[in-house]
Amino acid sequence: MNKSVLIIGGAGYIGPVLTDHLLTAGYKVNCLDLLLYQNNTCVIPYLSNPNYRFIYGDLRDQNVLDRALQGVTNVILLAGLVGDPITKKYPEASHAINDEGILSCIDFLNGKGLDRVIFVSTCSNYGLIKSDELADETYPLSPLSLYAKSKVAAEQHLLTNRGKVDYTPTILRFATAFGLAPRMRFDLTVNEFTRELALGRELLVFDAHTWRPYCHVMDFARLIQQVIEAPHAKIAFEVFNAGGEINNSTKQGIIDTILALLPDAKVRYQEHGSDPRNYRVNFQKVRETLGFEPEYTVDYGVKELLSAIREHIFDRADLMRNFHGNYEIEYPLP
Ligand SMILES: NC(=O)c1ccc[n+]([C@@H]2O[C@H](COP(=O)([O-])OP(=O)(O)OC[C@H]3O[C@@H](n4cnc5c(N)ncnc54)[C@H](O)[C@@H]3O)[C@@H](O)[C@H]2O)c1
Repeated sequence: MNKSVLIIGGAGYIGPVLTDHLLTAGYKVNCLDLLLYQNNTCVIPYLSNPNYRFIYGDLRDQNVLDRALQGVTNVILLAGLVGDPITKKYPEASHAINDEGILSCIDFLNGKGLDRVIFVSTCSNYGLIKSDELADETYPLSPLSLYAKSKVAAEQHLLTNRGKVDYTPTILRFATAFGLAPRMRFDLTVNEFTRELALGRELLVFDAHTWRPYCHVMDFARLIQQVIEAPHAKIAFEVFNAGGEINNSTKQGIIDTILALLPDAKVRYQEHGSDPRNYRVNFQKVRETLGFEPEYTVDYGVKELLSAIREHIFDRADLMRNFHGNYEIEYPLP
């Protein structure tokens, strides 16, 4: 097996954790990223590693893609405008990157002698489901946001390429991420709730009864390695929900986990927020096909973050809001 990968979008929240994991596992890692959030510091620790190469640029630029592909046999597609709020705020950039850019990148990867292409999608594709049901990979998709609609379009594009591409694609529908990372994102539920309450701020929680699946960033890194190393027959043109039932939770469940550690924290509740997503997810396929189960719980993620906050690791996060969350971009670049 050739242990080399290109991570497109490898400098964001999940990318550096994956980079670290794969370098430790003996992989050669190329990273292509546009550094939209001034997240250059996230790749600095790897620049002196002879098995790592950083290529700055836009995934829409085929010359840059060509350079980034040199010497690699597997591609992991993480890049994009990530999340409902930022795609709503920048619909044109979202269309350029998440629709046109991703689809042409998927096509460009054909004929390059690649082994596997892993497209990272989202469980947000399920949108709103009946509260007594668990969505497996065959559950009808009803994406509610521009963000999820682009993911669904890219999934469909990849899946209809059977027989037309020389690489083996796999789609991973990620749960909402949590956990420590160099580009710590505090615009994600578990991370945000923990930090706000740890700082003694009153937290307003919308629609506390709504379900979502969550997954630690280190578990995502483990899963991606498993997909790269699995027999082709198990992963070719397959879609997997990525996570585990143990981390299906309501927002109230997350709050309760935090309150058990911070009993004096102040929480207010409100119904009918702007984000109606409510979905519980079935992870049987990834468990039974790949033997994947998360190692880390939400409780673990809250505790590791609290420890870091108490040691003043994130004291300046409010001053670096856009590094710590997907709020503002300049695109196209000036
Ligand atoms: N974080 C989550 O909770 C979550 C949940 C489900 C799915 N996902 C998926 O996981 C992937 C990574 O998420 P993340 O949280 O690390 O996101 P992120 O926003 O932290 O990272 C995305 C990276 O892509 C880069 N990028 C954006 N447009 C680019 C372009 N045109 N060319 C090159 N690079 C570009 C950005 O600079 C950034 O470094 C995404 O595909 C996302 O949809 C994430």
